[in-house]
Parts: sequence; structure tokens; C-alpha cells
Amino acid sequence: MNLKDYIADVPDFPKKGILFRDITPLMLNGKAFQYAADQFIQFAKDKKATLIVGPEARGFIFGCPVAAGLGIGFAPVRKPGKLPREYVSVSYDLEYGSNELCLHSDSIKKGDRVLVVDDLLATGGTMDATVKLVEKLGGEVVGLAFLIELSELKGRDNLRNYDILTLITY
Ligand code: PRP
Ligand code: ADE
Repeated sequence: MNLKDYIADVPDFPKKGILFRDITPLMLNGKAFQYAADQFIQFAKDKKATLIVGPEARGFIFGCPVAAGLGIGFAPVRKPGKLPREYVSVSYDLEYGSNELCLHSDSIKKGDRVLVVDDLLATGGTMDATVKLVEKLGGEVVGLAFLIELSELKGRDNLRNYDILTLITY
């Protein structure tokens, strides 16, 4: 299956000069969505992951089916002001802005093997912050999985120590 067929390219969104890669057509196609989730599930199995972590909001879309498909947990990484209990936080830069990410302190159990899932790798800022949150809490990051990689932004260079799966590359 050619997953690129299900990504819509939107020039100048959300700002002039950004070519936005819209994943919603893929989500609307059950077969394409399931195919993508199955690739992530196989990667999680290969890595013997015990927990899936995904950053808000599009990381939830791909991370949750992987966790449910394997019968393992999912821990959400959220933007500030969203988590109701004790959390750890890390600041990060985006292709178009900057922010802070947070993870509930009790998300990771001793010995957890964590696969982090997100829709898209751009600069790698979001994933770098997410990995730091997991590691702050003592989790072992066993892999990073993305639907899309924007290779010219060289996000991989910030994530050299990790095994990365991407299903679509631009
Ligand atoms: C987008 C995307 C990734 C991140 C990639 O999320 O879903 O998480 O940017 O960019 P980076 O590699 O440069 O960090 P965004 O922060 O726009 O949030 P959203 O998923 O809530 O739309
Ligand atoms: N997140 C960061 N950069 C993006 C892009 N070009 N398209 C979609 N989501 C993004």
C-alpha cells in the first residue's frame, strides 16, 4: 500500500512557508489506517515494548491503536495545564513555535520498555522532549515510530541514539 496517497499537502498552513502534511485522509480510510497501525504494532512487538507513549495530539491517534492492539498501556504526553496530577516537564522547539511537554510522574514502571509513537518527525524537538520525559522517569526508550518523516529538517540528527521507524519520507 502506498501510504503517501492518503496524505494531503497543504501549502502555507498554519503559517506562510510551511507545507503542512495532513494525515486526516489516511485516518478516514480504514484500510490505510489499519495498515499503518499494523506496521507500528509489528515494530513494538520486535522491540518487546511494554508501554506506548505518544505526544499530544496526533501522537494519540497513532499510539492508542498500537497499545490497544497489543494489550499494553498508553501514556499521554501533554501540553501544559492539561495533566491533573504530579508530572515532569521539558521545554522544546517546533518547526513553527515552541512549547513545553508534560508526563504524569507515575506513567513509567521500573523496567518499562517504551516505544514512542507520533504522526510526524520534523525538527525532532517534540520527540527529543518526549524521550527526555520518559528517561527522567527511568523508562528505557526502545524505539521511535512515526508515520511521516520530513527528512530535510534533519530531525534524526537529534535522535541518533534511538532506533527509528518511519513509514513515509518526504
Ligand atoms: C506536530 C506533530 C509532531 C510535531 C513534529 O505537533 O504532530 O508532534 O509537530 O514537529 P517537530 O519534529 O519539529 O517537533 P504539534 O505540536 O503541531 O501538535 P498537534 O499534534 O497537537 O497538532
Ligand atoms: N508538524 C510540524 N511540521 C509539520 C508539517 N510540515 N506538517 C504537518 N505537521 C507538522
